[in-house]
Amino acid sequence: MRIRSVDRKYAVLLASALAILVAPDIARAQGYPSKFDFGTPASSQDIAAVVAIAIGPDGRNLPPGKGDYAAGKIIYANACSACHGANLQGVAGLRDMPAGASLRLIGGRGTLTTKNPVMTVESYWPYATTLFDYVRRAMPFNAPGSLSADEIYAVSAYILAEGNIIDKTIVLDAQTLPRVQMPNRDGFIPDPRPELFK
Ligand code: HEC
Repeated sequence: MRIRSVDRKYAVLLASALAILVAPDIARAQGYPSKFDFGTPASSQDIAAVVAIAIGPDGRNLPPGKGDYAAGKIIYANACSACHGANLQGVAGLRDMPAGASLRLIGGRGTLTTKNPVMTVESYWPYATTLFDYVRRAMPFNAPGSLSADEIYAVSAYILAEGNIIDKTIVLDAQTLPRVQMPNRDGFIPDPRPELFK
C-alpha cells in the first residue's frame, strides 16, 4: 500500500515537471509570445525610493509621530476590518485576493511547529517595526500610502495589543515600537550555509 502511494506521488511529480517543460511550447503554438513585453527595469531612483523608507529591526528610519490603541481601534474599524475582520481573524471568501493571502492578523501562537502552522503578526513576525514598515508600504490593500505616520503607529498599537503583545495603554512611536518584544523573536535561526552569503 505504502509503496504504491509513493509511486503515485512520483507519477504526479513527473507529470507536473513535463507540464512545465511543454507549457512554453503550447503557449507559442497558441500564438502567445515567449516573453511579455511590458514593464520597465527599476531605475536606481526607483530602488532608492523603496530603500529610503525601509525600517530596520532596530527602528532605524522610523518617522516622527505617535499613536495608541484607542486611536488605532477607530482606524482599524474604518480602514482594515472589511478584509481583516472585526476580530482580526480575517474575512473568508474575499474575491480578487492574492493566492495564499494571510488575512488573519492575530492568534496562532504555539502552532508554528505543528502540522498546521497559523502564521500571523502575533505568532510569526520577529520584529514589531516590520508591522509599521509593511502597513506603510502596502495597507490598506486598496489604498496603500493613504495613512499618516500617526495613524500607522496607532493601528500598529491596536493590532499588537489585540494580539496580547503590548498593553493597551502603550503609546507607540519611534522609540517605543522597536522595544516591543515579539513572541517569535527567537524562533528564527541563522542560515548555516556561509557559502550562500559570500
Ligand atoms: C481590501 C482588503 C484589505 C484591507 C482594507 C486591508 N488589508 Fe491588510 N491585507 C490584505 C491582503 C490581501 C493581504 C495579504 C497580501 C499579500 O499576501 O500579498 C493583507 C496583509 C496584511 C498584513 C500582513 C499579514 C501577514 O501575516 O502576512 C498586515 C499586517 C495587514 N494586512 C494590515 C492591514 C491594516 C493595518 C489595514 C488597515 C489600515 C489593512 N491591512 C487593510 C487585504 C486588506
